[in-house]
Amino acid sequence: MNVIRTIAELRSVLNEARGEGKTIGLVPTMGALHEGHASLVRLSVEQNDLTVVSVFVNPTQFNDKNDLKNYPRDLDADCALLESERVDIVFAPEVEEMYPQPDTRQFSFAPLDSVMEGPFRPGHFNGVAQIVSKLFYAVEPHKAYFGEKDFQQLAIIREMTRQLALDIEIVGCPIIRESDGLALSSRNMLLTDDERKRSLAISRTLFASLEYAKEHTLKETKAYVEDSINAVDGFRLEYYQIVDGYSLQPVEEWSDCDYIVGCIALFCGKIRLIDNIKYKEVK
Ligand code: PAF
Repeated sequence: MNVIRTIAELRSVLNEARGEGKTIGLVPTMGALHEGHASLVRLSVEQNDLTVVSVFVNPTQFNDKNDLKNYPRDLDADCALLESERVDIVFAPEVEEMYPQPDTRQFSFAPLDSVMEGPFRPGHFNGVAQIVSKLFYAVEPHKAYFGEKDFQQLAIIREMTRQLALDIEIVGCPIIRESDGLALSSRNMLLTDDERKRSLAISRTLFASLEYAKEHTLKETKAYVEDSINAVDGFRLEYYQIVDGYSLQPVEEWSDCDYIVGCIALFCGKIRLIDNIKYKEVK
């Protein structure tokens, strides 16, 4: 496994591989890797001749300085996991390599970025688009892999790829959960034991709402989730939105469209967690 620090070296290695007709898969990450990332990496290794995993805690997508400071970092552990998954290249640049000067680009993904995370994390998706577009230009992958846990991010990256007319297939991968249901996240390791126990109420409520939804209206189901989450000590709900899985706009009735997803964001103590559940899906 080759650990590369600069875009120039990355390009030269990848140009050689492309010259040999190899296909390239990219898995962008911010490190602190877990089974969720491993599932994206496995799919890329299976579907491509060569897999690049980027490990970069992108400062431009953090709207909270403390969150950036506290974000877990452990490149050695990440490399050990990636080596065992037979990754070819780890791209782990310094901030100066990705941002030799401030990135002044302003993206607009309206209306995808004006809902859910949008109002709570101003500038977040612009920062995600800045770094993911730079990675796409540097790697020029055939396919790029993102988790469905960040449901809105995935929709926005698909839209960005369309807007920039990039010939990259965006592959969305299902949420990986702990055996007790908690969606895997690098932030889970920041939870205290007590918060970790409480955090179970998120997936439990979302799964219970699937059953509830069979006998209740969409509005009743939304209220059921909101009330259940608000009843948990130490939780602060930011939003629970039931949306069209493509446009991300709120839906009013179960019959309004054929792809319906419930997306939640809340603080468990000081740690912000997100999760989502599909009520209806086009297959
Ligand atoms: O999902 C993430 O970990 C990040 O937002 C990403 C896509 C790697 C961009 O920094």
